[in-house]
Amino acid sequence: MVWSSLFVFLAVVQTAFGQPALDQHAEQLLHDRLFQTNLRGPRWTGNDNQNVLTSVVATSMEIAGLTVETLNYTLFRWDPRWWSLSLKLTNGTTMGLPTTGYWPYSGDTGLKGVTAPVHDAGSYALFPNQTANAGSLDLTGLPEGGSILFFDNPSPTRNYSEPGYGLLGSSVPAQDIPELGNLTNPHWQSAKTLNWTAIKQLGVAGVVASWVNTSDENGALQFLPNDGAPGNGSLYDVPALYVGNSTGETIRKLVKNGEVESATVVLDAPSLWAPSSTVIGHLNGTAETTDSIIVYTHSDGPSIIEENGPILLLAMAEYFAAHPIHLHIDFVITTGHMSGGHLNESSWMGERPEIMQTAKAAIVCEHFGAIEWKDNFSSGEPVFEPTGRYEPMWTMVNSSSASDQLHQLYLDAFEGTPDTLRMAMVSPQVVNGKRSQWYGAGGSSVLGYSNIPTIGIIPQPDYLWAAMVDGGWSRLDVDRAVTQINVILRLIDSLDQKFVAGEL
Ligand SMILES: *[C@@H]1O[C@H](CO)[C@@H](O)[C@H](O)[C@H]1NC(C)=O
Ligand SMILES: *[C@@H]1O[C@H](CO)[C@@H](O)[C@H](O)[C@H]1NC(C)=O
Ligand SMILES: *[C@@H]1O[C@H](CO)[C@@H](O)[C@H](O)[C@H]1NC(C)=O
Ligand SMILES: *[C@@H]1O[C@H](CO)[C@@H](O)[C@H](O)[C@H]1NC(C)=O
Ligand SMILES: *[C@@H]1O[C@H](CO)[C@@H](O)[C@H](O)[C@H]1NC(C)=O
Ligand SMILES: *[C@@H]1O[C@H](CO)[C@@H](O)[C@H](O)[C@H]1NC(C)=O
Ligand SMILES: *[C@@H]1O[C@H](CO)[C@@H](O)[C@H](O)[C@H]1NC(C)=O
Ligand SMILES: *[C@@H]1O[C@H](CO)[C@@H](O)[C@H](O)[C@H]1NC(C)=O
Ligand SMILES: *[C@@H]1O[C@H](CO)[C@@H](O)[C@H](O)[C@H]1NC(C)=O
Ligand SMILES: *[C@@H]1O[C@H](CO)[C@@H](O)[C@H](O)[C@H]1NC(C)=O
Ligand SMILES: *[C@@H]1O[C@H](CO)[C@@H](O)[C@H](O)[C@H]1NC(C)=O
Ligand SMILES: *[C@@H]1O[C@H](CO)[C@@H](O)[C@H](O)[C@H]1NC(C)=O
Repeated sequence: MVWSSLFVFLAVVQTAFGQPALDQHAEQLLHDRLFQTNLRGPRWTGNDNQNVLTSVVATSMEIAGLTVETLNYTLFRWDPRWWSLSLKLTNGTTMGLPTTGYWPYSGDTGLKGVTAPVHDAGSYALFPNQTANAGSLDLTGLPEGGSILFFDNPSPTRNYSEPGYGLLGSSVPAQDIPELGNLTNPHWQSAKTLNWTAIKQLGVAGVVASWVNTSDENGALQFLPNDGAPGNGSLYDVPALYVGNSTGETIRKLVKNGEVESATVVLDAPSLWAPSSTVIGHLNGTAETTDSIIVYTHSDGPSIIEENGPILLLAMAEYFAAHPIHLHIDFVITTGHMSGGHLNESSWMGERPEIMQTAKAAIVCEHFGAIEWKDNFSSGEPVFEPTGRYEPMWTMVNSSSASDQLHQLYLDAFEGTPDTLRMAMVSPQVVNGKRSQWYGAGGSSVLGYSNIPTIGIIPQPDYLWAAMVDGGWSRLDVDRAVTQINVILRLIDSLDQKFVAGEL
């Protein structure tokens, strides 16, 4: 009797005082901000929509009582406007073909486009370890006087059950996260860059790459920016488009039958100097200390899933401004993630080294509220559809013993969350002398490989880097994002309790 009353009493106390959570007003604000931001369209690095987002978030953080600083940059922004593909056939017909999008930073043809005979270079194959086999393209016998290079382009997969990743914990039993063993995602294709300089020297005037083993819907408007053209903005000057697998099959067949006279690639994509900012909001703690926590995200991308981080961080900042903790918090919202390397998204670390020096922990938050969609192969052909689940909260962590406590507090913060919120903590391991990649907003891996205990939360839906006509709104579950934010509020609160106890 006594024990059970005590238990009930403790439970009530914990709900009332021990469980930080957004209140109804904050939830409504989160919804409004996500919805209204989405209405404006994608926030490509340096475009007006990104600048509006960073500016309203910065001002709102100031209103909440944070000290806010913006680090301003200019980048040579590549702005794809109109793109299309047509084939002139030997029988005199001109065929218009659907594209799924373009290869970012590849070039600019203007509206007239470039026209040349087509060379089928086969497949840009993968090695068994899922890295690109640059020698696999057949570049022999290219037409004199220029060509349009066609090839199919299989996407790597990632297997987080392999020794390259250590599974350090999960919020539900690991068997409830089967994606661990066969994580597919079109955006990993971005790791397959080409030597564009060499291709240009071979007289290639344009490229058409085709999706492999991916539905046209899943390939649609995927933006694969990992390797931008080198330099301060000069493009590769090999304008490149993507087509869906079915269109690729059509092109391959027509070329093989000698029915194609030439292809015309139109990629009207001028470049212009554009401003873009990283926002740093500092929230003072109540203790006499410089110790702090970094909460980090990026602000650029194609959809209300990919770059919803700034709005998540604002909700967290407002919560802790109203419920002060002892530690300081630095909220860092970086730009440059989608810039193809033209804008270094980790620059702030060099410009504000004290933020790294005072950090006791770093928490990277991206892509909350993501609903899982996958190609379903059960009919033999891939069909892109919702799986009925949420995208797992992949969490990249460092495996140093210094971060054990952070891992445990993070796992504890999932207590009481629904089983449908599936989180897996994986750490990149060194295999054959090579460290597996840490995914997430670029600076996240810099933090992860530093001695700062870091967790980088990066749900990775197939559509992560896709532009969508509804901006991704139909793939976003705001209530789920609230649940995820509350996990982070609890984590930060428990880190603060450890700090107060002298254990951080
Ligand atoms: C950065 O740009 C913003 C927006 O244009 C401006 O308000 C701010 O003063 C600039 N900051 C610095 C340090 O130049
Ligand atoms: C030309 O060839 C294409 C592809 O084989 C075919 O669809 C089209 O009907 C042909 N046009 C004429 C005028 O024969
Ligand atoms: C993957 O395999 C290729 C070919 O065997 C090899 O050259 C490359 O170094 C490997 N890459 C990694 C990261 O293991
Ligand atoms: C992923 O790796 C695990 C462990 O090596 C293996 O059991 C599993 O079959 C792999 N998954 C796929 C799809 O190959
Ligand atoms: C691969 O994914 C499918 C669909 O998500 C799942 O049913 C299957 O169990 C997974 N396979 C492995 C080896 O994890
Ligand atoms: C790319 O090709 C150019 C020209 O053939 C060559 O000079 C350069 O070394 C190559 N770059 C890489 C990274 O292989
Ligand atoms: C196609 O993708 C599915 C799911 O990602 C995978 O199970 C299958 O092995 C792939 N097939 C080929 C030929 O790559
Ligand atoms: C289309 O995808 C299949 C696998 O699903 C692949 O075998 C084929 O090479 C692809 N074709 C093109 C042109 O991309
Ligand atoms: C890039 O830098 C070079 C050399 O510093 C300069 O000549 C050129 O104008 C720059 N290009 C752009 C687009 O600013
Ligand atoms: C934060 O603390 C510093 C150092 O005590 C102080 O100078 C600053 O005014 C405080 N900022 C706010 C917004 O209270
Ligand atoms: C980006 O900036 C960080 C911090 O200054 C620096 O360590 C890193 O080398 C830079 N990366 C590149 C590619 O310049
Ligand atoms: C895949 O499609 C089949 C046939 O429509 C369906 O029965 C199955 O539930 C789907 N699989 C998933 C994981 O949604």
